[in-house]
Amino acid sequence: MNLGDYLKKALAENWATGHFNASESDQFRAICEAAKDLNTIAIIGTSEGEAKHLGYFEAVALRDAFRKELGIPIFLNSDHHKSVEAAKKAVDAGYDSIHIDLSAEQYEKNVFGTKEIVEYAKNKNPQISVEGELGYLRGESKIEKEKITVKPEDLTNPDTAKDFVLSTGINRLAISVGNIHGISMDEPALDIDRIKKIREAVPKNVALVLHGGSGIPDGQIKAAIAAGIANIHINTDIRVAYAGALREEFSKNPDEVVPYKFDASAREAVKKIVKEKLILFGAENRI
Ligand code: G3H
Ligand code: ZN
Repeated sequence: MNLGDYLKKALAENWATGHFNASESDQFRAICEAAKDLNTIAIIGTSEGEAKHLGYFEAVALRDAFRKELGIPIFLNSDHHKSVEAAKKAVDAGYDSIHIDLSAEQYEKNVFGTKEIVEYAKNKNPQISVEGELGYLRGESKIEKEKITVKPEDLTNPDTAKDFVLSTGINRLAISVGNIHGISMDEPALDIDRIKKIREAVPKNVALVLHGGSGIPDGQIKAAIAAGIANIHINTDIRVAYAGALREEFSKNPDEVVPYKFDASAREAVKKIVKEKLILFGAENRI
């Protein structure tokens, strides 16, 4: 089964696949091992910054190595690639999935560039899954120190979403429904009704993606899945767990210099949070 098959299965069975970001091989391993322990698929994302740090070819090689070692489906996504050039780089390197995010551009430019990537990617690999983004998502994957307000004009319009999907040929659509990137000062309030309306407007074979999964209360996550979300992105929670465990380790053992000793607890912390999210998404035992 390819990623598209798992997304269709998730929608039909009312659960969501988890997408987790990695910028280090340790985080990559922790995410894959968490998925293996729960008998589910792993989707690893690298943003442009994360991919630059890890390396595009290195990320593909890690995916292949963990597939071999763990024997589970592992998919690699180019998360929030904000230019056609950057997205093409991920296609060429052998990513399974491309997220071309031109949501900050004018609608026509977004359609044009997203369509270009769909054609380019499918031409190289017919199995590839392409995600486009419509609506504006505020924040960054960190603990936000200022209050972030989602404006009505940020939100995805269901009719435009239908037009966007049909005009571009994407497989997945990232939507703005009250979600933000990062852990905000206030509790986010997802517009569940809007998710339902977008789900009704967009063809069933196109998966709806919820970004900014960190900091959203469990009840809202469950309601979003019930409304038709099939993929949820988590980054900040992983970064917070990883950095927090490293800080604690160095405060307890300030003289430790052996990387595989001082970073063991950070790997475990990432594994723990990924498992919690996968269970929350209902993704256990789905392969
Ligand atoms: O694409 C990445 C995700 O949308 C991450 O969002 O940092 O709020 O978990 P988050
Ligand atoms: Zn995102």
